[in-house]
Amino acid sequence: MNSLIRFENVSFSYGTNNVLENIDLEAGEGEFLAVLGYNGSGKSTLAKLINGILLPTSGKVYVDGMDTSDETKLADIRKTAGMVFQNPDNQIVATIVEEDIAFAPENLGLDPAEIRMRVDDAIKAVGLEKHIKDAPHKLSGGQKQRVAIAGVLAMQPRCIILDEPTAMLDPKGRSLVMGVIERLNREKGITIILITHFMEEAALADRILILSDGKIVENGTPKQVFSDRERMLSLGLEVPPVTDLTLNLIGSGLPLENDIIHPEELIDSLLRIKEAET
Ligand SMILES: Nc1ncnc2c1ncn2[C@@H]1O[C@H](COP(=O)(O)OP(=O)(O)OP(=O)(O)O)[C@@H](O)[C@H]1O
Ligand SMILES: [Mg+2]
Repeated sequence: MNSLIRFENVSFSYGTNNVLENIDLEAGEGEFLAVLGYNGSGKSTLAKLINGILLPTSGKVYVDGMDTSDETKLADIRKTAGMVFQNPDNQIVATIVEEDIAFAPENLGLDPAEIRMRVDDAIKAVGLEKHIKDAPHKLSGGQKQRVAIAGVLAMQPRCIILDEPTAMLDPKGRSLVMGVIERLNREKGITIILITHFMEEAALADRILILSDGKIVENGTPKQVFSDRERMLSLGLEVPPVTDLTLNLIGSGLPLENDIIHPEELIDSLLRIKEAET
C-alpha cells in the first residue's frame, strides 16, 4: 500500500506544552485508521497537522508526498486531505444544503456543470437527496454532519480526517454517519482517519492507533488492540461494549471466543452454542 499520509519524527508544542513527541505514522491509500487517546492526548493536534492547519515544531508531515510546510503545496494538500470536525454548526456556511456543498468546489473555480455533478454525487453518497433544497439549520444533527461530509466530498479528496464527527449526535445520527464513513472507505476507496471516543466505531477500522503522553503507544488491528481490556483501561480507554459483555459472559462460564469486537460475532457465537446444545 502506498502511504498517502506520512509523519516523520514529528513533534509539536503549544508554547512550552509538548503535545506530540517523535511521532512516526503512515496511512496507506484506501486505509481506514482510527485514532484513540484520552482527553488532551493530542488527537486533534495530530489531525490539524495532517492538512497544514498546524505545522510541526520539528519533523515532517507529508500528504501524497507533499510537505505540509511548503506553502506552495497547501492548496493541493487541502484538496487531497479534507477535514470534518465535531460540531456540524461550525462547518455549514450557506442557507441551502446544495449551496453549502457547492461552496468549496466553487472556490476551486470549477465550471458549473462539474460543480453540479460533484454536488449531486456528494449528496447521494451521504443519503440526503431529499434535503438538497432544505435550510441546513432545520436538519437534525446527524443530517447536518452528513451535509458537512458532503461538502468535503465535493472536493473529491483522497483522504478524509474526521475529528469526533459523531460526538454531538444521537445514536441514530451516529449510526447513519458511521454508515456513510464506512461506505466512502469500502466503496470509493477514500482513506479515512477517524478520531473517536467510541470504541465500537474504532472497531470498524482496519487499524487503530492509540496516543498517550504524546506518543503512539499502540498500533494494531482492532482485534489486537481490544484483546487486552486491562491495557485499554490503563490508557484511559475501554473496549467496545460488545467486547466487555463477551468477556463478562466468558467469566460466567460461557465458552465464547475471547476476541469478539462486533455485535454480529457475539450473536453468531451464541447461536452456535445454542445449536450445539439442541
Ligand atoms: N490552541 C491551543 N493552545 C494551547 N494549548 C492547546 C491548544 N489546543 C490544545 N492545546 C493543549 O494541547 C493538548 C492536546 O490537545 P488536543 O486538543 O490535541 O487533545 P485531544 O486528544 O484532541 O483532546 P479531546 O479528546 O479532549 O478532544 C492539551 O493539553 C490541550 O490543552
Ligand atoms: Mg480533540
